[in-house]
Amino acid sequence: MRILVTGGAGFIGSNFVYYELKNHPDDKIVCLDALTYAGNLHTLESAMQNDNFKFVKGDIADREAVYNLFEQEKIDIVVNFAAESHVDRSVENPEIFLKTNIIGTSVLLDACRKYGIRRYHQVSTDEVYGDLPLDRTDLFFTETTPIHTSSPYSSSKAAADLLVQAYHRTYGLPITISRCSNNYGPYHFPEKLIPLMISRALADESLPVYGKGENVRDWLYVEDHCSAIDLIIRKGKDGEVYNIGGHNERTNLEVVKTILKVLQKPESLITYVTDRPGHDLRYAIDPTKIHNELGWLPTTKFDDGIKKTIKWYLDNKPWWEEILKGDYQNYYEKMYGNR
Ligand code: NAD
Ligand code: DAU
Repeated sequence: MRILVTGGAGFIGSNFVYYELKNHPDDKIVCLDALTYAGNLHTLESAMQNDNFKFVKGDIADREAVYNLFEQEKIDIVVNFAAESHVDRSVENPEIFLKTNIIGTSVLLDACRKYGIRRYHQVSTDEVYGDLPLDRTDLFFTETTPIHTSSPYSSSKAAADLLVQAYHRTYGLPITISRCSNNYGPYHFPEKLIPLMISRALADESLPVYGKGENVRDWLYVEDHCSAIDLIIRKGKDGEVYNIGGHNERTNLEVVKTILKVLQKPESLITYVTDRPGHDLRYAIDPTKIHNELGWLPTTKFDDGIKKTIKWYLDNKPWWEEILKGDYQNYYEKMYGNR
């Protein structure tokens, strides 16, 4: 099987590359990644040693480059992780989100039509469902929950999902879509809550919690997301959407306090800052469908996963310190300077 993994130099894509190389050693993985601020070739250094892995630098919105790649590589399965993924950046500058997340997806879909594939898989997000009220813990997102987005990021991801479904209905393209909750684990870019708090706590810097820290996210260890996608692309039903999540809901404040406790740092580092505009209150996935139809179950509980993740950041300081030294310093000033 020849699998094209787009966005494989980012957080989840790189974890997926390693998952596939380990669990399906006979498959060939081609990674297409534009290496934006979020893509990091160091992350793929070990994969580069494997003869069944090939890296190609390129933009999914570049039609000519994408068509050339499909022509050369004879792809069987596409797994599209490539995206602008950070909600706060989408609030600052929506346009690149539209280009990569919508136009990029449409180019990949056109390439699949033109060259033929066995399956196109769209890596989507629970954010397409909007949010749930904090006081209704009985409510969960199912695959039939209406699309109702809040941010430019989630709107662009929802638009991409609709396009993928349209290509299935109109052109009969074989597709699947997965909508996952918040991931955490190795190689998570230090602009997102968990790695940001770990790196700042280690430097005894203030930890910027939005609003009162009451918003709830449903955390999934990244390897569990990878195992779910792996099952969907091999056994999932054509045309279907699968929600992925493991019932690990935590308030942001609980997450930050857990990190401080594991690192033995004081809670006085917590600083409450101006809330994110349009901030979604609660995400919570109902994963019944993927469990019943494909037998998927997550294996890592939050309390174990967060310890493993913190250990990874302690053991891999050069990976994230190098990122913090670069452009990201300017990003922190810009985003949090006046908050
Ligand atoms: P990330 O920001 O860490 O990585 C994105 C990768 O895509 C980077 O390597 C980047 O260089 C690449 N990329 C960006 N624009 C590109 C373009 N135009 N062409 C080619 N490559 C491009 O993102 P992530 O957190 O790993 O998320 C991966 C996917 O999973 C995204 O589609 C995201 O919407 C989805 N998702 C993420 C989460 C989460 O918690 N992080 C949860 C559910 C779904
Ligand atoms: O639910 C899936 C989504 O999870 C993915 O689709 C997105 O790509 C991914 O970035 C993530 O989105 P969130 O907005 O939930 O993740 P983030 O890590 O940015 O924020 C998590 C929560 O923490 C959110 O409620 C905002 C809050 N937060 C975040 C940052 C960066 C803070 O309180 N302070 C911060 O500095």
